[in-house]
Amino acid sequence: QLGLKTETLGHQIHFFEEVDSTQRIAAKLAYEGAPEGTLVIAEEQKAGRGRLDRKWFSPQGTGIWMSLILRPPIPPQQAPQLTLLVAVAVSQAIQEVTGLVPDIKWPNDILLHGKKCVGILTELQADPDRVRSVIIGIGINVNQTSAQFPEDICDIATSLAIEKGERIKRAPLIQEILLQLERLYKQYLEHGFRPIKLLWEGYAVSIGKPVTARTLGKVIRGIARGITDDGLLILEDEQNQLHYIHSADIQL
Ligand code: ATP
Ligand code: BTN
Repeated sequence: QLGLKTETLGHQIHFFEEVDSTQRIAAKLAYEGAPEGTLVIAEEQKAGRGRLDRKWFSPQGTGIWMSLILRPPIPPQQAPQLTLLVAVAVSQAIQEVTGLVPDIKWPNDILLHGKKCVGILTELQADPDRVRSVIIGIGINVNQTSAQFPEDICDIATSLAIEKGERIKRAPLIQEILLQLERLYKQYLEHGFRPIKLLWEGYAVSIGKPVTARTLGKVIRGIARGITDDGLLILEDEQNQLHYIHSADIQL
């Protein structure tokens, strides 16, 4: 019913009216051997999860709450590259469908006018030397009005409809996301991370700005200088020392 234009992504869709979390269901399906491209979508999540054990607000009918299974032939250390790839694909799709130009906040929040409208969560099932599957969770605030956000996030969250000033159809956006994802994923498997990195830097708001990274209890302040070919954030501190940040929460 989505009218897909992709070759593999989204060809097996598990659709639910209500779930705890599409991420949990996709992880279970992946563990049971579901093929690459399997997509889990829900109209509503009762226990949507964000990064760092946070809750993800996923009310009925207003957003895109979905998780996709990929099985890339890469070692686990390269998995962060995929997170950045997904952020680029979703940004391109939003731009294509709505005309809005999003910013990416490292590693993978997508912002419109400084407020978060998309969250991406990537989780791995891996052996020491190879990835078995990557579960990519994508949450997009599409048609919420400001009044529909809970008080604690209404200052930091926004939706596509709020920014665009009109309702946005979800199916064409899902279709475009899968199309862009498939295109970038193929490019990534053929040519590596470099072309993706350049695209990512084009959307990144963090580059050249002060950033605070919190990793495993350590706080590092510096200026974001870019990302490495592996997808790590490069932070330069006041002593001009470079730090390479793997996956942390940053504050602009
Ligand atoms: P704690 O559990 O310690 O209170 P927290 O302050 O991060 O952590 P949570 O309720 O766990 O609070 O998570 C909410 C966070 O998730 C907020 O910071 C907000 O950024 C984000 N968030 C949740 N749902 C959405 C959404 N639909 N759109 C944008 N941001 C969201
Ligand atoms: C974040 O920014 O913290 C990531 C949020 C990811 C939310 C999506 S919605 C679909 C999938 N299912 C979940 O429970 N979480 C992800």
